[in-house]
Amino acid sequence: MREELKKLETEALKEIEASSNDREALEAIRVKYLGRKGALTDIFKKIGTVSPSEKPEIGRLINIVKENVSKTLDAKSEAISKRSVKLDGVDVTLPGVAHKTGHLHPVTRTINEISDIFISLGFRVIEGPEIETEYYNFEALNIPLEHPSRDAFDTFYLKTEKEKYLLRSHTSPVQARFMEENSPPFAIIVPGRVYRPDATDASHSFMFHQIEGLVVGKDIKFSDLKGVLTIFSKQMFGSDTKMRFRPSFFPFTEPSAEVDVSCIICKGEGHCSVCGDKRWLEILGAGMVNPKVFKAVGYDPEKYTGFAFGMGVERIAMLKYGVNDIRLFYENDVRFLEQF
Ligand code: PHE
Repeated sequence: MREELKKLETEALKEIEASSNDREALEAIRVKYLGRKGALTDIFKKIGTVSPSEKPEIGRLINIVKENVSKTLDAKSEAISKRSVKLDGVDVTLPGVAHKTGHLHPVTRTINEISDIFISLGFRVIEGPEIETEYYNFEALNIPLEHPSRDAFDTFYLKTEKEKYLLRSHTSPVQARFMEENSPPFAIIVPGRVYRPDATDASHSFMFHQIEGLVVGKDIKFSDLKGVLTIFSKQMFGSDTKMRFRPSFFPFTEPSAEVDVSCIICKGEGHCSVCGDKRWLEILGAGMVNPKVFKAVGYDPEKYTGFAFGMGVERIAMLKYGVNDIRLFYENDVRFLEQF
C-alpha cells in the first residue's frame, strides 16, 4: 500500500510537470487523481484491507499525498495565469477603463416622450421640410400676405431667385402638406425644428422645436381636442395636473385657444418664480381647423372637421426638468447634458 501510494504520487507529479500550459489538461489530472472516482479515492476505499495497527499511518499518508498533488496542481495553475497575464506585454489584471456611453439629448428625449403619448392614442408621426415656401408657411394656413398676423410669425427669409423660400416659423405648414396628400380620417403629430429671428435670451432662441398635432375626420369636435390634451397633460406632467383653455386667435384655427396646465412646480402653493404665482403655465396653442385651411387643401369643410395644436418642446422640457435657460439646450456642455 505504501509503495502503491508513493508510485501514484510520483506519477501524478510527473504528469503535472509535463502537462502543457493549458488549464484543461490540468483539470483532467486533478480529476484523474483527486476526483470522486480518482486514483487516490480508490486507494482510500481499500483502507479496510489494511491491518488495524497500520490504518492511522496509511490514512495520514494518503492525506499527505493528496495535499501534495493538490498543491502542485494549484502552483501550476497559478503559473499558467501569470503567463497569460504577461501575454503580449499587456497586463490584463489591471482594472478596465470604462468608456462613457452617450445618451439622448434632453430635447430628443422630450420629443420621444411626447410622441409616445400621442402614438399610444393612435397618432402617426410625420415630418416635413424645414425650408418652406411662403405658401405653406402662411397662405395655405390663412395667413394672408401683408396681414398683421404675419408679425406674430416673424420669419427668416432665404435669398433665392424664383420663389421666396424661408425657414419655417412653425410646424403648421406640415398640416397643409399632409392634407394635400392624404384623405381623412387621420391623426398625426409633427415634431421638428422651427426658426424665428428673435433676440436670444433665457426663454428665446432663433431655433427651437415644436410638435404639431392634427386630427381630421367626420364629426371631430372641440371636446375631442379637450379629451386628447387632457390625457396628454396628465401623462406628461402627472395625473393631478389640471388644464384650462383660454380664448385666443390663430388664423388657421377657429375657435382658437391657448392651453395652460396647473403649475407643476408650485402645485398651487407658495411663492413660485416659474408661474409667477399665477398657478398656471401656458404650454400650447390649439383650436378647430379653420374651414379656409380645408378649402386651401381641397377638403370639403361641410364634410370634415378637425382640430390642431402646436407646442414648444423646449418650453415643455424646461417645465418638466426645471431648466431655467433655453440656451442650456444648445451649448452642449456635458455638465448640463449628463444630468439627464
Ligand atoms: N403654429 C402655432 C404657433 O406656432 C401653434 C398652433 C398650432 C396653434 C396649431 C393652433 C393650432 O404658435
